[in-house]
This record gives sequence, structure tokens and C-alpha cells, in this order.
Amino acid sequence: MKLKLFAASVAFAAFATVGAMAAMMPPFGSGDDISYAKSLWQKMEAKGLNSTPANLYVGGPPHGKVREIVESTIDGNRVIIKRNYRGKDMTVAKVAANRAKYLVSVTVMLKRKGFDPQDADWFWVKYTPNGTIMKNKKKMSLAGKIAKGKPIGCIACHAGAPKGSFVFSHKKGDVVFVK
Ligand code: HEC
Repeated sequence: MKLKLFAASVAFAAFATVGAMAAMMPPFGSGDDISYAKSLWQKMEAKGLNSTPANLYVGGPPHGKVREIVESTIDGNRVIIKRNYRGKDMTVAKVAANRAKYLVSVTVMLKRKGFDPQDADWFWVKYTPNGTIMKNKKKMSLAGKIAKGKPIGCIACHAGAPKGSFVFSHKKGDVVFVK
């Protein structure tokens, strides 16, 4: 009897600890987020999306000064890929002449049904030019619900896009669509 009670309390303690840990877990950069983002990059490569040029244009912060956006689908899910270019005295012409030289990051949003219903179900990720998942100052991998609940970051800023879509580029004619 005593033993049973002990076992039950151990089980409860373990359960409570797991619950508390889950509550403390940041909303992004988990093992699942990382493996999802890794396979996403491979699929972007396989579909040639990383090598499909789009219309280069100049835009405001925080994304690179010169940028381009490719939109497509992966496994039936809408994906929007933005390549960000930075450098001294940036111009569209400079980037057009040598994209690889100025590419600093690739920011991606992929619609993942049920992933984050509160914020339009986008999965967010920021890669280096060769597909490595970037980290923030706290060494957290930038993949998943990036900075959800925080006043700055992908979700907070994109929440300002029209009609709760979290997508700004709609208005522009810059996006290149790949079937
Ligand atoms: C401070 C605001 C801000 C933050 C933070 C931000 N973005 Fe954006 N993002 C924008 C704006 C504004 C655009 C519109 C495109 C333009 O002006 O060139 C954009 C465009 C995009 C696009 C192209 C689709 C669209 O909405 O137009 C993607 C993909 C994207 N951002 C991904 C990300 C990811 C991933 C992060 C986080 C790592 C992030 N963004 C952080 C403001 C932000």
C-alpha cells in the first residue's frame, strides 16, 4: 500500500515536471522544428526554388536592403521564400551581377495546417545562404513559431500584414511564382 502511494507520487512528480518543462519551452527551435526546417530546405533545393531568380527590389528593414521573393508549394503547402542581400553601397544592379556574393540569409514561411492556428499556421525559418538554420543571440535556432508572444520578431512584425494573412508581399508585383 505504502509502496503504491510512493509509486503514484513519483509518477505525479514526473508528470508535473514534464508539464512545467513544456510550459517553459520556447515556442521555436525545438528538435522537431529543426528537423522540419532541414527537410524543408532539401525540398526547396529539390524543386530548384533556391536557384530560381525573382525580381530584385530595394526594401526597408529588417530584411536585406535588396531582396527577392519566390512563392511556390511544397507537399501542397504554400511556401514563400525571401532572399536577402546586403553589402556596401547596395544596388539592384550589383546583386543582379553577382547574387551569391551578397546573399546573407534566406527567410521562409510555410503554411502548415494546424501548426499555429492563432497566427495563420505559418512555420517560420531563417537560413544562411547554404541552408544552415540561423540562431539568435541566445543560441536558439530560428525555426518554428519564431518569437511567438514576444513584441518583436517574425510573428509580431508580420502580424501587421493585411487581413491577418501575415503576408506583406501580396501588394507587390515582385513575387515570382513557381508551379
Ligand atoms: C520588423 C518587421 C519584420 C520582421 C521582424 C520580419 N519581417 Fe519578414 N517581412 C517584413 C516586411 C515589411 C516584408 C514585406 C516585403 C518587403 O517589404 O520587401 C516581409 C517579407 C517577408 C517574406 C515574404 C512574404 C511577405 O510577407 O511579404 C518572408 C518569407 C519573410 N518576411 C520572412 C520573415 C521571417 C522568417 C522572419 C523572422 C526570422 C521575418 N520575416 C521577420 C517585415 C518583417
